[in-house]
Amino acid sequence: MRYLVTGGAGFIGSHITERLLADGHQVRILDNFSTGKHENIPDSADVEVIAGDVGDYDTVCAAMAQVDMVFHEAAIASVPETVGNPLASERVNYRGTVNILEAARHAGVQRVMFACSAAVYGDLPELPKREDMPVKPMTPYAIDKLASEHACQAYYHLYGLETVSLRYFNVFGPRQDPSSPYSGVISIFSDFLNHGKQPTIYGDGEQTRDFVYVADVVEANIRASTASEAPGRSFNVATGGTLSINELLKTICDIKGQPFSPQYKPGRDGDIKHSRADISAAREYLGWQPTVAFEDGLLKLFEA
Ligand code: UD1
Repeated sequence: MRYLVTGGAGFIGSHITERLLADGHQVRILDNFSTGKHENIPDSADVEVIAGDVGDYDTVCAAMAQVDMVFHEAAIASVPETVGNPLASERVNYRGTVNILEAARHAGVQRVMFACSAAVYGDLPELPKREDMPVKPMTPYAIDKLASEHACQAYYHLYGLETVSLRYFNVFGPRQDPSSPYSGVISIFSDFLNHGKQPTIYGDGEQTRDFVYVADVVEANIRASTASEAPGRSFNVATGGTLSINELLKTICDIKGQPFSPQYKPGRDGDIKHSRADISAAREYLGWQPTVAFEDGLLKLFEA
């Protein structure tokens, strides 16, 4: 099969690419290299790379030729970055998805897997989050991810294009780039401690997240691409666990044998207090469940 992986030079997209190649498929990557890196792309004759932007419809159409299925991972992944630049978020995170869906429909693609986000739930108090609960997008990022998910469902019902929306919670693992202040928190904490720098905790550190290891996210995508009852639905991709940012940093400090001494700064605008998933829908419809325990995932990351 030939797969298109948007954002294939990035963190999650490069892991999906690696898995598809290992399974004997051909992969075309569409990435604008804004955060993706050439060194993340496996060296293989079965990979084709198009440097281009999902926000550009003609580029997306060219990338879609002869494609069987799509994993749409390209996004501005940082919530604060989209708070600073809502128009860029709309262009990439929403219109980019509609470009993918529209090009996929015309190219006769079988199925599109969309990287949605737990951010759509916002700060509504009921936990754990189930997919049928109300949503409350609070940032440009969350608005555009939710709108994209609706577009996926509309394309399924209107045009019969099979789409599956995966609401990722906090994904971590090798190749998550720590270089920006907006990068994933685990990559930042780890990088700071490695370089003898003092980590920053925004707010009181009692906000909680549900962290899921990237290999489990890849497996959820693969299952979503074949499960017969998946199209038209949304699934939480998480472990169902909960960890505060204080506890997270303490755990990383323990593993690295370093003292816990963060500096605290005011909380970020739009930051969600608590985020935790109910993953029973993914179990039921995808036959998926996470297999990597949190601390094992951290150890794998630090060994990588
Ligand atoms: C993350 C993802 C987002 C995804 C969402 C799903 C990243 C960059 N963002 O957003 O794409 O859709 O999960 O739940 O991967 N923090 C600190 N110190 C730091 C960095 C962060 O205290 O140096 C705090 C933040 O304020 C936040 C928590 O750690 O409370 C997690 O932050 P972050 O890793 O940026 O993720 P989310 O905003 O949850």
